[in-house]
Amino acid sequence: MKLFDVYPLYDITPVQGKNVHVTDDKGITYLDLYGGHAVISIGHSHPRYVSAISEQAGKLGFYSNAVQNPLQMELAEKLGALSGCDNYELFLCNSGAEANENALKLASFQTGKARIIAFNNAFHGRTSAAVAATDNKNINAPINAQHQVTFLELGDIAALEKELQKGDVCAVIIEFIQGVGGLDEATADFYENADKLCKQHDSMFIADEIQCGYGRTGDFFAFQQYNVTPDIISMAKGMGNGFPVAGILVYPSIKAKHGMLGTTFGGNHLACAAAIAVLDVLKEEKLMENTREVAAYFVEKAGTIPQIKQIKGRGLMLGLEFDFEVGELRKKLIYDHHIFTGGSSNKKLLRILPPLTVKKEHIDAFFDALNNVVMNS
Ligand SMILES: Cc1ncc(COP(=O)(O)O)c(C=O)c1O
Repeated sequence: MKLFDVYPLYDITPVQGKNVHVTDDKGITYLDLYGGHAVISIGHSHPRYVSAISEQAGKLGFYSNAVQNPLQMELAEKLGALSGCDNYELFLCNSGAEANENALKLASFQTGKARIIAFNNAFHGRTSAAVAATDNKNINAPINAQHQVTFLELGDIAALEKELQKGDVCAVIIEFIQGVGGLDEATADFYENADKLCKQHDSMFIADEIQCGYGRTGDFFAFQQYNVTPDIISMAKGMGNGFPVAGILVYPSIKAKHGMLGTTFGGNHLACAAAIAVLDVLKEEKLMENTREVAAYFVEKAGTIPQIKQIKGRGLMLGLEFDFEVGELRKKLIYDHHIFTGGSSNKKLLRILPPLTVKKEHIDAFFDALNNVVMNS
Protein backbone atom coordinates (compact mmCIF):
# COMPACT_ATOMS: atom_id res chain seq x y z
CA MET A 1 0.00 0.00 0.00
CA LYS A 2 1.26 3.51 -0.80
CA LEU A 3 1.09 6.41 1.63
CA PHE A 4 -1.44 9.16 0.86
CA ASP A 5 1.05 11.74 -0.34
CA VAL A 6 0.16 14.97 1.48
CA TYR A 7 3.55 15.94 2.93
CA PRO A 8 6.47 17.46 1.00
CA LEU A 9 9.44 15.68 2.61
CA TYR A 10 13.13 16.38 3.15
CA ASP A 11 15.14 13.32 2.13
CA ILE A 12 16.28 12.51 5.66
CA THR A 13 15.29 9.51 7.81
CA PRO A 14 15.85 10.13 11.51
CA VAL A 15 16.08 6.91 13.49
CA GLN A 16 17.28 8.12 16.88
CA GLY A 17 17.03 11.21 19.05
CA LYS A 18 18.97 12.34 22.09
CA ASN A 19 18.26 15.69 23.74
CA VAL A 20 18.81 18.38 21.06
CA HIS A 21 20.13 16.00 18.39
CA VAL A 22 18.63 13.48 15.99
CA THR A 23 20.61 10.89 14.05
CA ASP A 24 19.57 9.52 10.69
CA ASP A 25 19.82 6.05 9.12
CA LYS A 26 23.21 6.98 7.60
CA GLY A 27 24.65 7.89 11.00
CA ILE A 28 24.57 11.66 10.41
CA THR A 29 23.70 13.65 13.52
CA TYR A 30 21.66 16.84 13.20
CA LEU A 31 21.21 19.71 15.64
CA ASP A 32 17.45 20.05 16.06
CA LEU A 33 16.48 23.73 16.25
CA TYR A 34 12.98 22.90 15.03
CA GLY A 35 11.84 20.43 17.70
CA GLY A 36 9.69 18.55 15.19
CA HIS A 37 7.54 21.68 14.87
CA ALA A 38 7.79 23.00 18.48
CA VAL A 39 6.85 19.62 19.90
CA ILE A 40 10.07 18.55 21.64
CA SER A 41 10.10 20.43 24.93
CA ILE A 42 12.29 18.41 27.33
CA GLY A 43 14.61 16.96 24.67
CA HIS A 44 14.44 13.81 22.55
CA SER A 45 14.22 10.54 24.50
CA HIS A 46 14.77 12.14 27.90
CA PRO A 47 15.57 9.19 30.23
CA ARG A 48 12.91 10.20 32.77
CA TYR A 49 10.31 10.37 29.99
CA VAL A 50 11.38 7.07 28.43
CA SER A 51 11.15 5.22 31.73
CA ALA A 52 7.78 6.84 32.66
CA ILE A 53 6.21 5.72 29.37
CA SER A 54 7.86 2.27 29.38
CA GLU A 55 6.81 1.56 32.97
CA GLN A 56 3.25 2.72 32.32
CA ALA A 57 3.02 0.59 29.15
CA GLY A 58 4.08 -2.40 31.24
CA LYS A 59 1.35 -1.67 33.81
CA LEU A 60 -1.69 -0.30 31.95
CA GLY A 61 -1.46 1.53 28.63
CA PHE A 62 -5.09 2.40 28.18
CA TYR A 63 -8.51 2.28 29.67
CA SER A 64 -11.43 4.45 28.62
CA ASN A 65 -12.82 7.56 30.29
CA ALA A 66 -15.55 5.44 31.91
CA VAL A 67 -13.38 4.63 34.96
CA GLN A 68 -11.30 6.53 37.51
CA ASN A 69 -7.85 7.53 36.24
CA PRO A 70 -5.71 8.98 39.05
CA LEU A 71 -2.99 9.89 36.50
CA GLN A 72 -5.34 12.54 35.07
CA MET A 73 -5.70 14.03 38.56
CA GLU A 74 -1.92 14.01 39.09
CA LEU A 75 -1.42 15.68 35.72
CA ALA A 76 -4.06 18.34 36.49
CA GLU A 77 -2.51 19.04 39.88
CA LYS A 78 1.04 19.39 38.54
CA LEU A 79 -0.09 21.42 35.53
CA GLY A 80 -2.07 23.80 37.75
CA ALA A 81 0.92 24.29 40.05
CA LEU A 82 3.55 24.86 37.33
CA SER A 83 1.38 27.02 35.07
CA GLY A 84 -0.11 29.15 37.83
CA CYS A 85 -3.56 28.41 36.38
CA ASP A 86 -4.68 26.10 39.18
CA ASN A 87 -8.15 27.69 39.32
CA TYR A 88 -8.91 26.39 35.80
CA GLU A 89 -10.26 22.89 35.05
CA LEU A 90 -8.62 20.45 32.63
CA PHE A 91 -10.16 18.52 29.72
CA LEU A 92 -7.77 16.18 27.92
CA CYS A 93 -7.72 15.26 24.24
CA ASN A 94 -5.14 14.20 21.63
CA SER A 95 -4.08 17.00 19.28
CA GLY A 96 -3.97 20.75 18.89
CA ALA A 97 -6.81 20.93 16.40
CA GLU A 98 -8.96 18.81 18.67
CA ALA A 99 -8.18 21.11 21.61
CA ASN A 100 -9.31 24.17 19.61
CA GLU A 101 -12.35 22.30 18.27
CA ASN A 102 -13.40 21.57 21.85
CA ALA A 103 -12.61 25.13 22.94
CA LEU A 104 -14.79 26.60 20.19
CA LYS A 105 -17.60 24.13 20.81
CA LEU A 106 -17.52 24.88 24.53
CA ALA A 107 -17.63 28.63 23.80
CA SER A 108 -20.71 28.05 21.68
CA PHE A 109 -22.38 25.88 24.35
CA GLN A 110 -21.62 28.50 26.99
CA THR A 111 -22.86 31.56 25.09
CA GLY A 112 -25.55 30.00 22.89
CA LYS A 113 -23.94 31.87 19.95
CA ALA A 114 -22.12 30.65 16.84
CA ARG A 115 -19.92 33.29 15.19
CA ILE A 116 -16.15 33.13 15.70
CA ILE A 117 -13.67 35.99 15.43
CA ALA A 118 -10.18 34.96 14.32
CA PHE A 119 -7.24 36.93 12.95
CA ASN A 120 -5.46 37.27 9.63
CA ASN A 121 -2.62 34.75 9.30
CA ALA A 122 -3.94 32.64 12.18
CA PHE A 123 -3.42 28.88 12.28
CA HIS A 124 -5.65 26.85 14.61
CA GLY A 125 -5.62 23.33 13.10
CA ARG A 126 -7.39 21.24 10.52
CA THR A 127 -10.62 19.96 12.08
CA SER A 128 -13.97 21.50 11.25
CA ALA A 129 -14.29 24.73 13.28
CA ALA A 130 -10.53 25.00 13.90
CA VAL A 131 -9.72 25.03 10.20
CA ALA A 132 -12.59 27.42 9.49
CA ALA A 133 -10.88 29.79 11.98
CA THR A 134 -7.56 29.30 10.14
CA ASP A 135 -6.64 31.97 7.61
CA ASN A 136 -5.70 29.65 4.74
CA LYS A 137 -8.23 28.95 1.99
CA ASN A 138 -6.13 26.07 0.61
CA ILE A 139 -6.77 23.88 3.63
CA ASN A 140 -10.50 24.71 3.94
CA ALA A 141 -12.86 22.36 2.09
CA PRO A 142 -16.42 23.32 1.12
CA ILE A 143 -17.68 21.39 4.16
CA ASN A 144 -15.82 23.80 6.45
CA ALA A 145 -17.60 26.81 4.98
CA GLN A 146 -20.64 26.11 7.19
CA HIS A 147 -18.95 27.92 10.09
CA GLN A 148 -19.46 31.62 10.67
CA VAL A 149 -15.99 33.12 11.00
CA THR A 150 -14.90 36.73 10.66
CA PHE A 151 -11.19 37.46 10.20
CA LEU A 152 -9.77 40.72 11.50
CA GLU A 153 -6.39 42.41 11.32
CA LEU A 154 -4.33 41.39 14.37
CA GLY A 155 -4.26 44.48 16.60
CA ASP A 156 -7.34 46.26 15.20
CA ILE A 157 -9.27 46.87 18.41
CA ALA A 158 -11.89 49.14 16.78
CA ALA A 159 -12.84 46.41 14.31
CA LEU A 160 -13.00 43.86 17.11
CA GLU A 161 -15.29 46.08 19.17
CA LYS A 162 -17.57 46.67 16.18
CA GLU A 163 -17.94 42.93 15.60
CA LEU A 164 -18.48 42.06 19.27
CA GLN A 165 -21.21 44.74 19.53
CA LYS A 166 -23.30 42.74 17.06
CA GLY A 167 -23.88 40.30 19.95
CA ASP A 168 -23.57 37.03 17.99
CA VAL A 169 -19.90 36.15 18.69
CA CYS A 170 -19.31 33.01 20.78
CA ALA A 171 -15.50 33.20 20.72
CA VAL A 172 -12.49 35.30 19.91
CA ILE A 173 -9.60 32.90 19.29
CA ILE A 174 -6.06 34.19 19.25
CA GLU A 175 -2.44 33.04 19.23
CA PHE A 176 -0.59 35.50 21.47
CA ILE A 177 2.41 34.86 19.22
CA GLN A 178 1.44 33.56 15.78
CA GLY A 179 3.33 30.38 14.93
CA VAL A 180 2.72 29.17 11.39
CA GLY A 181 1.81 32.74 10.37
CA GLY A 182 5.33 34.03 11.14
CA LEU A 183 5.75 35.15 14.77
CA ASP A 184 3.62 38.30 14.62
CA GLU A 185 2.21 39.70 17.86
CA ALA A 186 -0.14 42.51 18.85
CA THR A 187 0.43 45.00 21.69
CA ALA A 188 -0.37 44.57 25.39
CA ASP A 189 -3.07 47.21 24.94
CA PHE A 190 -4.74 45.20 22.22
CA TYR A 191 -4.72 41.92 24.15
CA GLU A 192 -5.94 43.51 27.36
CA ASN A 193 -8.74 45.46 25.65
CA ALA A 194 -9.75 42.39 23.63
CA ASP A 195 -10.08 40.43 26.88
CA LYS A 196 -12.21 43.21 28.44
CA LEU A 197 -14.43 43.54 25.36
CA CYS A 198 -15.05 39.77 25.30
CA LYS A 199 -16.20 39.91 28.92
CA GLN A 200 -18.45 42.93 28.20
CA HIS A 201 -20.11 41.23 25.25
CA ASP A 202 -20.43 37.67 26.63
CA SER A 203 -17.96 36.17 24.18
CA MET A 204 -15.32 33.63 25.21
CA PHE A 205 -11.67 34.72 24.93
CA ILE A 206 -9.69 31.66 23.77
CA ALA A 207 -5.90 31.66 24.04
CA ASP A 208 -4.46 29.21 21.52
CA GLU A 209 -1.26 28.28 23.38
CA ILE A 210 -0.70 25.16 21.32
CA GLN A 211 2.61 26.40 19.96
CA CYS A 212 3.51 29.36 22.20
CA GLY A 213 2.58 27.66 25.49
CA TYR A 214 4.11 25.05 27.78
CA GLY A 215 7.22 27.04 28.68
CA ARG A 216 8.27 27.83 25.13
CA THR A 217 8.38 31.60 25.67
CA GLY A 218 10.02 31.39 29.10
CA ASP A 219 6.62 31.89 30.76
CA PHE A 220 4.40 28.86 31.06
CA PHE A 221 1.85 30.53 28.76
CA ALA A 222 2.61 33.40 26.39
CA PHE A 223 -0.51 35.32 27.52
CA GLN A 224 0.95 35.55 31.04
CA GLN A 225 2.96 38.63 30.00
CA TYR A 226 -0.36 40.49 29.93
CA ASN A 227 -3.15 41.29 32.31
CA VAL A 228 -5.73 38.97 30.72
CA THR A 229 -7.85 36.04 31.90
CA PRO A 230 -8.70 33.79 28.96
CA ASP A 231 -11.92 31.82 29.36
CA ILE A 232 -10.32 28.83 27.64
CA ILE A 233 -6.65 27.98 27.01
CA SER A 234 -5.74 25.33 24.43
CA MET A 235 -2.48 23.35 24.69
CA ALA A 236 -0.74 20.56 22.78
CA LYS A 237 2.74 20.33 21.16
CA GLY A 238 5.23 20.58 24.09
CA MET A 239 2.77 18.94 26.47
CA GLY A 240 3.76 15.37 25.55
CA ASN A 241 7.26 15.91 24.08
CA GLY A 242 6.08 13.91 21.07
CA PHE A 243 3.45 11.73 22.70
CA PRO A 244 0.08 12.84 21.25
CA VAL A 245 -1.61 14.56 24.17
CA ALA A 246 -3.45 17.89 24.27
CA GLY A 247 -6.01 19.68 26.35
CA ILE A 248 -7.98 22.75 27.24
CA LEU A 249 -8.00 24.67 30.50
CA VAL A 250 -11.49 25.92 31.26
CA TYR A 251 -12.24 28.89 33.53
CA PRO A 252 -14.54 27.81 36.39
CA SER A 253 -17.39 30.14 35.33
CA ILE A 254 -17.95 27.61 32.52
CA LYS A 255 -19.72 24.66 34.08
CA ALA A 256 -19.16 21.09 32.94
CA LYS A 257 -22.11 18.82 32.11
CA HIS A 258 -21.76 15.07 31.67
CA GLY A 259 -21.43 14.23 28.01
CA MET A 260 -20.88 17.79 26.73
CA LEU A 261 -17.32 16.90 25.59
CA GLY A 262 -15.69 13.50 25.23
CA THR A 263 -13.07 11.39 23.52
CA THR A 264 -11.98 7.75 23.51
CA PHE A 265 -8.22 8.24 23.70
CA GLY A 266 -7.93 11.65 25.41
CA GLY A 267 -6.22 11.48 28.80
CA ASN A 268 -5.31 7.79 28.50
CA HIS A 269 -2.80 6.31 30.91
CA LEU A 270 0.18 6.42 28.57
CA ALA A 271 -0.53 10.02 27.53
CA CYS A 272 -0.79 11.06 31.17
CA ALA A 273 2.47 9.30 32.07
CA ALA A 274 4.21 11.17 29.23
CA ALA A 275 2.68 14.53 30.16
CA ILE A 276 3.50 14.11 33.87
CA ALA A 277 7.14 13.31 33.02
CA VAL A 278 7.28 16.46 30.88
CA LEU A 279 6.02 18.65 33.73
CA ASP A 280 8.40 17.03 36.23
CA VAL A 281 11.40 17.64 33.95
CA LEU A 282 10.31 21.20 33.05
CA LYS A 283 10.19 21.98 36.76
CA GLU A 284 13.22 20.07 38.05
CA GLU A 285 15.58 21.08 35.26
CA LYS A 286 14.31 24.69 35.42
CA LEU A 287 13.73 24.70 31.68
CA MET A 288 11.74 27.94 31.62
CA GLU A 289 14.70 29.72 33.22
CA ASN A 290 17.01 28.07 30.69
CA THR A 291 14.67 29.21 27.90
CA ARG A 292 14.91 32.85 28.99
CA GLU A 293 18.69 32.71 29.37
CA VAL A 294 19.42 30.98 26.07
CA ALA A 295 16.89 33.15 24.24
CA ALA A 296 18.61 36.34 25.43
CA TYR A 297 21.94 34.95 24.19
CA PHE A 298 20.39 34.00 20.84
CA VAL A 299 18.86 37.45 20.31
CA GLU A 300 22.17 39.14 21.18
CA LYS A 301 24.04 37.02 18.63
CA ALA A 302 21.34 37.51 15.98
CA GLY A 303 21.70 41.28 16.42
CA THR A 304 25.28 41.11 15.09
CA ILE A 305 24.31 39.67 11.69
CA PRO A 306 23.49 42.51 9.25
CA GLN A 307 21.54 40.23 6.89
CA ILE A 308 18.93 39.70 9.65
CA LYS A 309 16.39 42.50 9.26
CA GLN A 310 14.17 41.69 12.22
CA ILE A 311 14.11 39.28 15.16
CA LYS A 312 10.58 38.21 16.06
CA GLY A 313 9.01 36.18 18.83
CA ARG A 314 9.90 35.46 22.41
CA GLY A 315 11.81 32.82 24.39
CA LEU A 316 12.63 29.83 22.21
CA MET A 317 9.90 30.65 19.71
CA LEU A 318 11.92 32.96 17.50
CA GLY A 319 11.88 34.13 13.92
CA LEU A 320 14.77 35.63 11.96
CA GLU A 321 13.51 37.77 9.10
CA PHE A 322 15.81 38.28 6.11
CA ASP A 323 15.27 40.38 3.00
CA PHE A 324 15.29 37.20 0.87
CA GLU A 325 13.31 33.97 0.90
CA VAL A 326 14.89 31.42 3.24
CA GLY A 327 14.06 28.13 1.45
CA GLU A 328 17.61 27.71 0.10
CA LEU A 329 19.17 28.83 3.37
CA ARG A 330 17.19 26.15 5.25
CA LYS A 331 18.33 23.50 2.76
CA LYS A 332 21.98 24.53 3.19
CA LEU A 333 21.63 24.48 6.97
CA ILE A 334 20.19 20.96 6.81
CA TYR A 335 22.30 19.31 4.11
CA ASP A 336 25.64 21.14 4.55
CA HIS A 337 25.63 21.97 8.26
CA HIS A 338 23.21 19.35 9.64
CA ILE A 339 20.94 21.80 11.44
CA PHE A 340 17.13 21.66 11.37
CA THR A 341 15.26 24.97 11.35
CA GLY A 342 11.66 25.86 10.45
CA GLY A 343 9.84 27.95 7.85
CA SER A 344 6.50 29.77 8.07
CA SER A 345 3.92 31.34 5.76
CA ASN A 346 6.23 34.38 5.74
CA LYS A 347 8.78 32.99 3.26
CA LYS A 348 11.51 35.36 4.46
CA LEU A 349 11.38 34.10 8.02
CA LEU A 350 13.54 31.36 9.52
CA ARG A 351 11.81 29.80 12.52
CA ILE A 352 13.72 28.61 15.57
CA LEU A 353 11.88 26.20 17.89
CA PRO A 354 14.49 24.06 19.67
CA PRO A 355 13.96 21.76 22.64
CA LEU A 356 13.93 23.91 25.79
CA THR A 357 17.07 22.07 26.94
CA VAL A 358 19.18 23.77 24.26
CA LYS A 359 22.42 25.39 25.49
CA LYS A 360 24.52 28.37 24.43
CA GLU A 361 27.07 26.08 22.75
CA HIS A 362 24.34 24.87 20.35
CA ILE A 363 23.41 28.47 19.58
CA ASP A 364 27.10 29.16 18.82
CA ALA A 365 27.14 26.20 16.41
CA PHE A 366 24.01 27.57 14.69
CA PHE A 367 25.43 31.07 14.25
CA ASP A 368 28.75 29.71 12.94
CA ALA A 369 26.78 27.80 10.29
CA LEU A 370 24.45 30.71 9.53
CA ASN A 371 27.37 33.11 9.12
CA ASN A 372 29.07 30.64 6.83
CA VAL A 373 25.95 30.29 4.64
CA VAL A 374 25.12 33.99 4.38
CA MET A 375 28.77 34.96 3.71
CA ASN A 376 29.05 32.42 0.89
CA SER A 377 25.79 33.08 -0.91
C1 LIG B 1 -1.14 27.68 17.12
C2 LIG B 1 -1.55 26.32 16.65
N1 LIG B 1 -2.80 25.90 16.87
C3 LIG B 1 -3.22 24.68 16.49
C4 LIG B 1 -2.38 23.81 15.82
C5 LIG B 1 -2.87 22.45 15.40
O1 LIG B 1 -2.28 21.45 16.15
P1 LIG B 1 -2.27 19.93 15.62
O2 LIG B 1 -1.40 19.89 14.41
O3 LIG B 1 -1.72 19.15 16.79
O4 LIG B 1 -3.68 19.56 15.32
C6 LIG B 1 -1.07 24.21 15.55
C7 LIG B 1 -0.15 23.32 14.82
O5 LIG B 1 0.83 23.73 14.24
C8 LIG B 1 -0.64 25.49 15.96
O6 LIG B 1 0.61 25.94 15.72
